[in-house]
Amino acid sequence: MNKIAARAFYDALNSDMGTQAREYLSKRQLSRATCVHFGLGYAPDSFNYLTDILTKEGYSTDEISENFLCGISKKNGKPFDMFRNRVIFPIIDLYGNIIAFGGRVMDDSKPKYLNSSDTVVFKKSKNLFALNFAKSALLGDREGGGSASTLVRSGELILCEGYMDVISMHQAGFTNAVATLGTAITSEHARIISRFAKTVYLAYDSDSAGQNATKKAIEKLSEVGIDAKVIKIEGAKDPDEYIKKYGAASFAKILGSSDGEVDFKLKAILNKYDLSNADDKIRAVQDICRMLSDIYSPIKREVYTKRASEITGISEETINAEIKKALRGKASSFRKKQSDDTQKRLLRYDDRINKESAVNPAAASVEERLLGILLLHPELFEKCKELKSDDFITSFNRSVYERLKEIYDSGTSDTSSLNEYFSPEEMGRIMNMRYEREKLSSNGVDALSEQIYTLKKLKDKKDAKSEELSFIDSINKIKAEKLKGGSN
Ligand code: CTP
Ligand code: MN
Repeated sequence: MNKIAARAFYDALNSDMGTQAREYLSKRQLSRATCVHFGLGYAPDSFNYLTDILTKEGYSTDEISENFLCGISKKNGKPFDMFRNRVIFPIIDLYGNIIAFGGRVMDDSKPKYLNSSDTVVFKKSKNLFALNFAKSALLGDREGGGSASTLVRSGELILCEGYMDVISMHQAGFTNAVATLGTAITSEHARIISRFAKTVYLAYDSDSAGQNATKKAIEKLSEVGIDAKVIKIEGAKDPDEYIKKYGAASFAKILGSSDGEVDFKLKAILNKYDLSNADDKIRAVQDICRMLSDIYSPIKREVYTKRASEITGISEETINAEIKKALRGKASSFRKKQSDDTQKRLLRYDDRINKESAVNPAAASVEERLLGILLLHPELFEKCKELKSDDFITSFNRSVYERLKEIYDSGTSDTSSLNEYFSPEEMGRIMNMRYEREKLSSNGVDALSEQIYTLKKLKDKKDAKSEELSFIDSINKIKAEKLKGGSN
C-alpha cells in the first residue's frame, strides 16, 4: 500500500496538480535529481485522491486508515485523505521498503509537518529518516544509492532534527545525515545507529530546544558507546539554512571543528554561571567535577581536569579531590541500588512467569524444589500419592505439577509434551527447576518428602490465615449490621 501511495504522490508532484509544489521545492533549492533520489511527492488538495487510488487497488477503508493514509469522517463515516496539499517525504526502512510518510505545508499554516503515526510497519521510536541512504554511504556502496562523497568518512554519522536538513546535507554531499522523525532520540535509535557508526555529529537547531535535545542525544548515544560531537551552527537556525547561507565547504569546516561531548558540556556549565562571582564559581566547579567524574577513561579525565583548572583557576589537586568525592557518592548509591535489586530478586517482585511468587516466595521456592526433583527422577512420582494439586499454593507451579502427573500417570517419563503446554519462557523456568536440583547431590526420597512436608505446612498456615481473615471479616460484617440497626 505504501509503495502504491508513494507512486501516487510522486506522480501528482510531476503532473499539473503539482506545479505549486514543484515551485516550492525549487524555492527551497532542491534540485530535480534530489527530489527524485528521495522520492519526494505531493498530496493534492483533495479529500479522495489517494483513497480512491488505494480503493481501486483493492484496499479496504479500514486497511487504509490503519496505515494512516485516510481518516474516517465522524459525520458521515466516509474516508478522507490524511495528507492533503502537502509536499510528501517518504520514509524508507533499511531494506528499501516505504514504511511511512511525512508531509509539509507549503505556507505558514499549522501543523507544519504531518507524520504517519505508528503503524504495523512503522515505529517512530525505531526508524530514522534517510538511514537507508546513509547506510549505503557509510558502507561505500555506490549501487545502493550512496555517493562516494569525499565528505563522508566511514563510521561517522550526522544526526539532525528535520527532513529538510537531511535532504540539504545529502544534496551538499553529506550523505551520512539522518534525522529522528518529529521525536527525541530514543535508546532504540541509538542502538540502531551504533550498528553503523562509532562517531555521531549532532547537528541540531541552534535554539535552546535544539541544545537540550543535544544534551539528551549525547546521553543516549554514550549509553551504546558512541562518541558524540556537537556541530556549532552559528548565524543560521539549522543545517539547511546554514548550507544555503554559507555553502557546503563552510559546513565541512564547522563539522571538522566540532566540539567533543566534554567540551560541549563544559561550555554549557560555564554559560550558566558568572565566574567573577564567588558563589557562582563554587557551583560551576562542583558541576564541572560531577561531570568529569562521569568520564571513564583516566587519560581523558586528566586532560579535561587540566582544562577545567586553567579555565576556573582552581588547582588540579582540588578538582581531583572533588571528583573523588563525587565518585564515592556514586559508588555508594550504586551499591544501594544493587542491594535493592538483589532484595527484589529474592522477594521475586519481578517474576513475570509465576506472578504469585511475589506474595508467596517461600511456597514458590519449595514448589520449585519439589518439581525439580520430580523432573529429575520420574520414578519418585509414586512417592507423591499424598500430594494433591490443591496443596500447591502458586497456580503456575500447580499447573506444572498437574501436567507432570498426567504425563507420568500415562506410563511414560518423556516430558517433552510439556512444550505443547507451556510457552518457551515458561519452559525455561521449568528446565531451570530441574537444573537447580541437578547441581545438588540430595535428590532422593528424603529430599522429596521434606519438600512435601514443608509445602503442606505452608499451605495449612495459609488456609488457617485465610480462615482467620474470613472469620474477622464476618465479625466485622455483623458489627456493621448491628451499627446500622442501632442508628435506625
Ligand atoms: N516536526 C514535526 N511536526 C511539526 C514540526 C516539526 O514532526 N509540527 C519535525 C519534522 O521532522 C521537522 C523537525 O521536527 O523536520 C524539525 O522541525 P522544525 O525545525 O520546525 O522544521 P524544519 O526541519 O526546519 O523544517 P523547514 O525547514 O521545512 O521549516
Ligand atoms: Mn529548517
